[in-house]
Amino acid sequence: KRQEGGMRVLIIGQGGRENALAWKLSQSPRLEKLYSAPGNTGMAEVSECVKIPAGDIEGLVRFAKEKNIDLTVVGPEAPLVEGLVDRFKNENLKVFGPDAYASQLEGSKLFSKRLMQRTGVPTATFEEFSNLEDALSYLSKVKYPLVVKADGLCAGKGVVIAQTRQEAEEAVKRMMQEKVFGSSGDKILIEECLEGEEASLIAVSDGETIVCFASSQDHKRIFDGDQGPNTGGMGAYSPAPVVSPQLQKEAEEKVFLPVIQALKEDGHPFVGFLYAGVMVTSEGLKVLEFNVRMGDPEAQAILPRLESDLLELFQVCLQGRLKDLKLTWRPDAAVCVVLASEGYPGSYKKGDTIRGISEAAGMPETLIFHAGTKVQDNNIVTDGGRVLNVVSLGDGIPQAVKRVYQAAGKITFRGMQFRKDIAHRALKRTAFSIKETRS
Ligand code: AMP
Ligand code: GLY
Repeated sequence: KRQEGGMRVLIIGQGGRENALAWKLSQSPRLEKLYSAPGNTGMAEVSECVKIPAGDIEGLVRFAKEKNIDLTVVGPEAPLVEGLVDRFKNENLKVFGPDAYASQLEGSKLFSKRLMQRTGVPTATFEEFSNLEDALSYLSKVKYPLVVKADGLCAGKGVVIAQTRQEAEEAVKRMMQEKVFGSSGDKILIEECLEGEEASLIAVSDGETIVCFASSQDHKRIFDGDQGPNTGGMGAYSPAPVVSPQLQKEAEEKVFLPVIQALKEDGHPFVGFLYAGVMVTSEGLKVLEFNVRMGDPEAQAILPRLESDLLELFQVCLQGRLKDLKLTWRPDAAVCVVLASEGYPGSYKKGDTIRGISEAAGMPETLIFHAGTKVQDNNIVTDGGRVLNVVSLGDGIPQAVKRVYQAAGKITFRGMQFRKDIAHRALKRTAFSIKETRS
């Protein structure tokens, strides 16, 4: 299947999202050779892993030159915000991802908010503060709940929903006085608290136009019923029924295109994945945040549904020809369940033997992506908080849910925890719509 004279591709990152990207890229008839830096156990099945960390931009540049890489794909946000794309472009290396300027959409919440204000993208109202006293005095004048956010990257931990003034004051002091997020908390935002159902909308852009991926929904809390602390994401499903065709259109016209247009006018056309975390409110869709990459675990649920060639999509984006391309999707739904270590998202142990991966992978329409595992003495052992992603496709969400939990049930490791209610909102909607059609 691999083409002589095909493309030599490097994928950067080591999580479940990157495993899903590598798995999908490995199926491209345009591919000659796939490398992962640094990759993981699952990526090693479909690519050659090289021991260069995602943060070692100079090491990655050297590798891409030495191996004549035709295209580099960046999985996580940190190297994008750090300017990996600018460095690669300076060396005439082709790379799929936004430059450092455009990556501020994720790297700076203030940049993102100002851009949304400037372009009329619907979002929560906010005030910005760079001084502790001003922020605290503002808190005495406003209604609760409200949301306190650190400006910079905080690995998803820089957002506090404060139900009371006391909680808000504690959050502000932690960010601005105790500096728990370092310089990411030099500036903060205090935002209106939105109510509604969240969804993840992901588009791909060539800097000029966009193509939307299938919708999805993440599950950020650790426990069933959306209880407990926030995590990197405990599961996802696609499509998300909350995203109606009308909402999808609204997102394209009122969110993605204005942002892409503005960045182009700023001289930094956005090439890459643009992810809008949105709240579907009674007043319509509002943007909570932008990310400048695929979602994790959304990618694991979305990419198995993509029929089109992902490598062709990346190529077309780099050539600025996206308007000529149409993506095709499998009609099936996909559900991803994250298997996590005991203690996650707090501290957890590593090195426990994992059993049953191949049995799970052998279940109908099921894929296993690795997030935090490693090979030790010929065994696969846990090596992170989020350990594995089990993904199943089905003829609708209910079937995919049934399959994914049957497959997850084959896997065991000490202290394994996972949510039993992934896709609960979609299932509720399906149940309602069945009732409605019957009555
Ligand atoms: P962010 O990193 O901005 O996506 O925030 C993380 C999570 O905090 C989101 O997924 C929401 O659940 C929640 N959140 C952020 N901003 C708001 C808001 N303005 N109103 C309500 N919830 C929010
Ligand atoms: N799933 C949320 C994120 O990737 O940021």
